[in-house]
Amino acid sequence: MTEMDKAPQTAPRRVFIKTYGCQMNVYDSDRMVDALAPHGYVPTQEPGDADLVLLNTCHIREKASEKVFSELGRLKELQGERRAAGGDMMIGVAGCVAQAEGEEIARRAPMVDLVFGPQAYHRLPDMLAQAEGQRHLHPSLKKAVIDTDFPEEDKFAHLPAAKKEVTIKRGLTAFLTVQEGCDKFCSFCVVPYTRGAEVSRPVAQVLAEARGLIEAGVKEITLLGQNVNAYHGLDAGGRDVGLGELAYLLAEIPGLERLRYTTSHPRDMDEALIAAHRDLPLLMPYLHLPVQSGSDRILKAMNRRHTSAEYLALIERIKQARPDMALSGDFIVGFPGETDQDFEDTLTIIRQTGYASAYSFKYSTRPGTPGATLTEQVDEAVKTERLHRLQELVNQQTTDFHASCVGKTMPVLIERVGRMPGQVGGRSPYLQAVHLEGSTDLIGAIHEVEIIGTSTNSLVGRLKQAAAA
Ligand code: SAH
Ligand code: SF4
Ligand code: F3S
Repeated sequence: MTEMDKAPQTAPRRVFIKTYGCQMNVYDSDRMVDALAPHGYVPTQEPGDADLVLLNTCHIREKASEKVFSELGRLKELQGERRAAGGDMMIGVAGCVAQAEGEEIARRAPMVDLVFGPQAYHRLPDMLAQAEGQRHLHPSLKKAVIDTDFPEEDKFAHLPAAKKEVTIKRGLTAFLTVQEGCDKFCSFCVVPYTRGAEVSRPVAQVLAEARGLIEAGVKEITLLGQNVNAYHGLDAGGRDVGLGELAYLLAEIPGLERLRYTTSHPRDMDEALIAAHRDLPLLMPYLHLPVQSGSDRILKAMNRRHTSAEYLALIERIKQARPDMALSGDFIVGFPGETDQDFEDTLTIIRQTGYASAYSFKYSTRPGTPGATLTEQVDEAVKTERLHRLQELVNQQTTDFHASCVGKTMPVLIERVGRMPGQVGGRSPYLQAVHLEGSTDLIGAIHEVEIIGTSTNSLVGRLKQAAAA
């Protein structure tokens, strides 16, 4: 008998999950809700009402993990209030900070009951039972339940299938993790340590989850992975299937209208995936393809294992396959040893590529990564100045990209009522928010919309026809 079968039938308890970091954490938080549902937990949006609070944490930059400790400070007060009122609040720390600093969290924040890494979510009900077993103990005798092992078993196979009612709440778009972990070991990055080695889910599992989401009303799926285009899941015959081939298989599922994937590494943009962009209209022409730096010297020190020229040539090939392709990227400024010239090279590659949007960060030393051993740190003030200049450039590119959409007609997935009465809102193929006059009947489908203007961070549209074919 599994833990799932002996789920207690008690009054619902409430779980509040706060999610930090990347979309994979967003997906994982939903799966934790799914894993807890058979055990009588329902989600709440109010931490003060929660019997269980989970922080799903991110370790990618220093600030990300510091946020967790300040949140724990705030939760300690809430926990005290609930206990004073005769109730209780269990606190768990999940995610990448938990994986990297399990023992440290338990030491620094003794009111934490559970600490568990991204590979342990399917064991959450067991861990909770263990922590609850300590409830009667004096706080000084309690010990946090810590699970930061990288198990051999497949956590996805052990997580319950997404519940329909939970899925519906997710709306018209959904994330689907197909690949986890990373073997690339870029010298600045903690992901290979927090998420472990690269693992791909089997094709049948992915297709089944996609079908379930579509049955529940999802129209657009974003495939997730830290290195999603390194996906190589096994099919029923034991053959390796890459992301390109997976896209063709997903495209055959009736009802799936849009497909995206993120995050990709330039080294894994293979011919099959580029061909999928050429052949599959449902594969959106918007690609997040981080380059981090435009300096070959820095790219080498980062262990990205490609040059700026190779990146530009790759973009060329992708645009040949899908001419309406737009790009987004990630950039790090102030990697150890980055000179003014290296930084200028980064601005140059941004100008050459032309991004629809971009995320940019100051380099943050992560303990345990090869970057942490480099001594030529860039001054904080220099990093700030470079970040500012870079953001000015990419913000201008984003504005230009929005402006270039005016006058075009594009399919918009209408998702919700708009900000103003009589308006509805949705997303363009490029993930831009689009607002237009229209009835709520439009919600739930893709409609052709003429873009007639821009406003801050969004587009203004006009309905072209009743419904797209
Ligand atoms: N797998 C993705 C990136 C995942 S992390 C890739 O290979 O591109 C998301 C982004 O955070 C990275 O693209 C990088 O720009 C940024 N990042 C990662 N580690 C960082 C660090 N130590 N300091 C600053 N930014 C970092
Ligand atoms: Fe981190 Fe590099 Fe892996 Fe991306 S490819 S997750 S940046 S190690
Ligand atoms: Fe952060 Fe972990 Fe994602 S470190 S970016 S939550 S994989």
